[in-house]
Amino acid sequence: MSRHSIDRPADLDAVRDSYDRVADNYVHMVRTTGIGDIRRHPWLKASIDAFADSVDGLGPVLDVGCGPGTVTAYLAGRGLDVSGVDLSPRMVENARRLYPECRFEVASATELDLGEATLGGVLGWWSLFNLPRAVLPQVLAHFARALEPGGFFITATHVGDGDLRRTEAYGGVAVEWTTHKWRPEELVELIERAGLAPVAELRIPADEHTGPGVVVMARKPA
Ligand SMILES: C[S@@+](CC[C@H](N)C(=O)[O-])C[C@H]1O[C@@H](n2cnc3c(N)ncnc32)[C@H](O)[C@@H]1O
Repeated sequence: MSRHSIDRPADLDAVRDSYDRVADNYVHMVRTTGIGDIRRHPWLKASIDAFADSVDGLGPVLDVGCGPGTVTAYLAGRGLDVSGVDLSPRMVENARRLYPECRFEVASATELDLGEATLGGVLGWWSLFNLPRAVLPQVLAHFARALEPGGFFITATHVGDGDLRRTEAYGGVAVEWTTHKWRPEELVELIERAGLAPVAELRIPADEHTGPGVVVMARKPA
């Protein structure tokens, strides 16, 4: 599959501009409140630790939609060969500033040029929910192809029915994006259809900051 075989989301530019606008507030939120920082959420941290243990010794790891690089840097600190990509140039600027020891690039999940069987692990950590429903399966198939046999994919996303149009986020900043919520069983089915075998699923109930979520980890059959 070439990078051009994934449909370009019609709202990609609006989503990029929106994340550029919220990027500084997002960083401030993560650093001052711990929201969005796995080290403050034991179950999310446990999921990322399980992923890190699983991909240890496999090929490079790519954190797709890395934002300001919190998880990328955490995984690098665990000794993994990891890099991050994000749609938003401002997120990537922040990531490079905060974690100069890590590698970050600007790219959309829909435009990655990934070689076949070149990655030991891929993350889509709270970063794939803006992809239109018809596009997510294409991106998952691209990830599955890029994983080496035995490699792992992990994703966390918002749970629910339907689509939520957001007009402001992270401190009242004007945004223009849609949060496509997934029911866990729908998401798992998509992941299976992409050719990956789910190995774990973790439900995260709503709290005072955000709605319910789900973490799914899956493995490319060896
Ligand atoms: C809620 S933030 C999560 C960031 C990071 N994964 C974390 O956990 O802190 C969502 C991120 O997904 C990125 N994103 C949205 N659509 C994307 C796309 N098509 N390709 C790559 N990144 C995307 C946004 O720019 C943003 O940085």
